[in-house]
Amino acid sequence: MEAQELREAFVNFFKSKDHAQIGSASLIPENDPTVLFTTAGMHPLVPYLLGEKHPMGKRLCDFQKCIRTGDIEEVGDNSHLTFFEMLGNWSLGDYFKKESIGWSFEFLTEHLGFTIDQLAVTAFEGEGDIPRDDETAEIWKSHGFKDEQIFFYGRKDNWWGPAGVTGPCGPDTEIFFDNGQPKCSDECGPSCHCGKYTEIWNNVFMQYFKDENGKFKPLEQKNVDTGMGLERACCITEKKSSVYDTSLFAGIIAKLEEISGKKYEGENIRSFRIVADHLRAATFILGDGVVPSKVGQGYILRRLIRRASRYMSDLGYDGIFMEQICNVIIEQYGSSYPELIREKETICKNITSEEEKFHKTLTKGLRRFNEMLKENGDSKVLDGEMVFRLYDTFGFPVELTSELAQEHGLTVDMEDFQNRFRQHQDKSRAGAEQTFKGGLADNSEETTKLHTATHLLNAALREIVDPNIRQKGSNITADRLRFDFNFDRKLTPEELAAIEKFVNDAIEAKIPVVCTEMPVDEAKASGAIGVFDNKYGAIVKVYEIGNVSRELCGGPHVENTGDIQGFKIKKEESSAAGVRRIKAVVGKF
Ligand code: ALA
Repeated sequence: MEAQELREAFVNFFKSKDHAQIGSASLIPENDPTVLFTTAGMHPLVPYLLGEKHPMGKRLCDFQKCIRTGDIEEVGDNSHLTFFEMLGNWSLGDYFKKESIGWSFEFLTEHLGFTIDQLAVTAFEGEGDIPRDDETAEIWKSHGFKDEQIFFYGRKDNWWGPAGVTGPCGPDTEIFFDNGQPKCSDECGPSCHCGKYTEIWNNVFMQYFKDENGKFKPLEQKNVDTGMGLERACCITEKKSSVYDTSLFAGIIAKLEEISGKKYEGENIRSFRIVADHLRAATFILGDGVVPSKVGQGYILRRLIRRASRYMSDLGYDGIFMEQICNVIIEQYGSSYPELIREKETICKNITSEEEKFHKTLTKGLRRFNEMLKENGDSKVLDGEMVFRLYDTFGFPVELTSELAQEHGLTVDMEDFQNRFRQHQDKSRAGAEQTFKGGLADNSEETTKLHTATHLLNAALREIVDPNIRQKGSNITADRLRFDFNFDRKLTPEELAAIEKFVNDAIEAKIPVVCTEMPVDEAKASGAIGVFDNKYGAIVKVYEIGNVSRELCGGPHVENTGDIQGFKIKKEESSAAGVRRIKAVVGKF
């Protein structure tokens, strides 16, 4: 079964079980500064898993675009991808294990054509206060599974989440395709990597919340969160040995063959796959409004584009080609993800501009790298000065240089590089460093400052412009805040100056930021602005900044407004009809 058929079959199946189909959310999580990208289907549903009422009901299903950058260097083998789609269904405090397992079994056997002998399942073996999940095993047995098809594992294998640093999580049961080859050893099972077992579906019984202290608290609402990786499912249903050999990549790889004049075979395979994967991810990220930059999502995007450029050059191609691949991707995915069609022009413009910038220096940079190898003599470590030069002069992301070095049996002096980088670029330090760690923005110092600055900006708008102003959206990356609010005209330069002054006065006044937990009703009665009513359950956090701001929020925030140092508005523009948008930065100016 090919991708489009699989998406439709999945969604139609769950619709027949009274689920409402919801749209794929943006790859950029709204209001979650703890991760750069949406990493799972459940990510946009966090508030609803925590108890907020979803307008579409208690049973939902969808296909969701996701990005995971943790394994970027593994891309090119048979299975690793940075961009993928996840098919998912959810119970928000409605059905639980019995129905979830029953429907997964029904879909796999009656709609995808698996026989029970081709499947194996896992369950949580228990840890600490959380007991072994015998209930799940019993349900699988009631569908005809034998003991030898059911495996119990610990937290490493059979626990999922949270998606960010904190959030909903729980034990899961995973369903594997067993290709029938003999076990590689007595211990061989679904957690073994010998190739006998491939995960198809993960059903998480989301009934815990992991807090900032790493503690697991039971949730009042018992949820089900499932995820089936579309590419992997296609790989199995199309009977291929790699996700890159499925219908999802056929068009992209054919176009790359045509452009490069090389065949997708032998030693070229890895480069083809890297270029195909990275450009697919880049197209989708650009489609969600990110532009290449030095920090946050923009830095990941830059790395993907520049890495794709390097591997295309390894295929012997020396030219500008990416827009052609974007067009194939937009054509292929446009009906499922209409934003790609809407943003086509921007995607093509931005990818080409980044490609051209890097292409100019790529050949020279590679030549310089080879000279550096010679200058480096017998040392097995490439010094930070050289790595920084490649970054600064030739635009080589440090990860790319590190990879090139590895190919020659060398490592790079990361600490030295980081020091030079820090000196050079003090301002965007936090974001970039975090990004280097592989995708997690975490609660970095910079995003925390921006978070508190957002509260001050919200208060300033209501104080200076109009008390009826309400937050319509907020998005924080490592280098800026973006705040959307209801208002129907452009702000005047005087208003913008007064807003800036209001926020900077609050920063200069060095006001402590105080967090109090209280029931949601009490919070509202106290006059706190309730932007995300009920988002965090019955008890909410209220962040109070002197008499300037009182806002319901999950945090994190700085301890004192003085930590923000300064605030500057970079842009005020229209976001949608009746909605204005402000972008602002913080720090010492
Ligand atoms: N959230 C679960 C996963 O990503 C379903 O595997």
